[in-house]
Amino acid sequence: MSKILITGGLGYIGSHTAVVLIEKGYEVVLVDNLSNTREEVLDGIEQITGKRPVFYAMDLAEKQQVSDLFAREKDLIGAIHFAAYKAVGESVQEPLKYYQNNLCSLIYLLAALDQIPGSALIFSSSCTVYGQADTLPITELAPIKPAESPYGNTKQIGEEIIRDLCAVSDRIKAIALRYFNPIGAHSSALIGELPLGVPQNLVPFITQTAIGIRERLSVFGDQYPTPDGTCIRDYIHVVDLAEAHLAALERILGGGMPENFEVFNVGTGQGNSVLEVVHAFEAATGVKLNYAIAPKRAGDVIAAYADTQKVEQVLGWKARYTLEESLAASWAWEQNIRKK
Ligand code: WQD
Repeated sequence: MSKILITGGLGYIGSHTAVVLIEKGYEVVLVDNLSNTREEVLDGIEQITGKRPVFYAMDLAEKQQVSDLFAREKDLIGAIHFAAYKAVGESVQEPLKYYQNNLCSLIYLLAALDQIPGSALIFSSSCTVYGQADTLPITELAPIKPAESPYGNTKQIGEEIIRDLCAVSDRIKAIALRYFNPIGAHSSALIGELPLGVPQNLVPFITQTAIGIRERLSVFGDQYPTPDGTCIRDYIHVVDLAEAHLAALERILGGGMPENFEVFNVGTGQGNSVLEVVHAFEAATGVKLNYAIAPKRAGDVIAAYADTQKVEQVLGWKARYTLEESLAASWAWEQNIRKK
């Protein structure tokens, strides 16, 4: 059974990817520093899959801890690397925390994988590397724009580090997945996006407003050059996103990659405005949402949604869930975690 390391494995996308890999027959080893999640996520993974993966609480930004991990888990053949700090606003205030954590973790992981002939790396990247793309939908050939935050810069630099290693090493192959906007939760509502602190992202703020934790949703600006004046994004169900990681992993392990490093945009290909998401949530759940228009948020791009031709044709992957299904799943998760 192929053994795969999932870093950030108790996080939102990491935990959903662990479920998909386990259900596909992979053995997974999860590592997480628990800075933005809780160990009980492991219980949800076990309840869903019937298996409790090996878990190490550790800091990938500590080189010795990474070496010890690979010495202990000798038969790892690859890694899916989610572990990173990801709060855009915080990264502006604390750049060195982001560069040190996100880049050292990646470098130490790559150094370990590069000792394993035939190893595979899937890297969690982001559509944020495109900034405000000049052309929509966004293809992988769109120019990389100067990062709008240290967080986004760690994704750009991370891709460059991987590209440079894959250019000279014949021991490792890598795929970077540039996510659009992950939302939703597993159908069991046993895992989802853990609400730690005030949500920065739209959908967790919507569900917390709907359940009464937040007074109202602030819609950050309605004077953008879009049909209804609010920003447009590509909201992808987290289970669809998890399955894209499986497809990428199997592309590498299946052999036949013409290059040692490939990049894919992973989205639904559909753009929806903030107000469309609000109204889709109300339609999907029957819950009336309290919201008010507020000033625009610094750093927001007007519109971003994926051109999915490459990921569909090369990885054979396509998003299956609709926006309404994703929002209903987010709502079911919010209701479930508030029961405890
Ligand atoms: C979506 C839209 C907001 C909250 C970020 C990161 C990106 C990736 C995904 C990590 C925007 C609007 C939001 C609110 C609102 N993260 N909004 N009221 O900014 O597209 O992407 O998360 O990889 O790197 O940048 O997602 O959910 O924050 O915002 O009106 O309370 O919702 O203005 O238009 P974003 P988001």
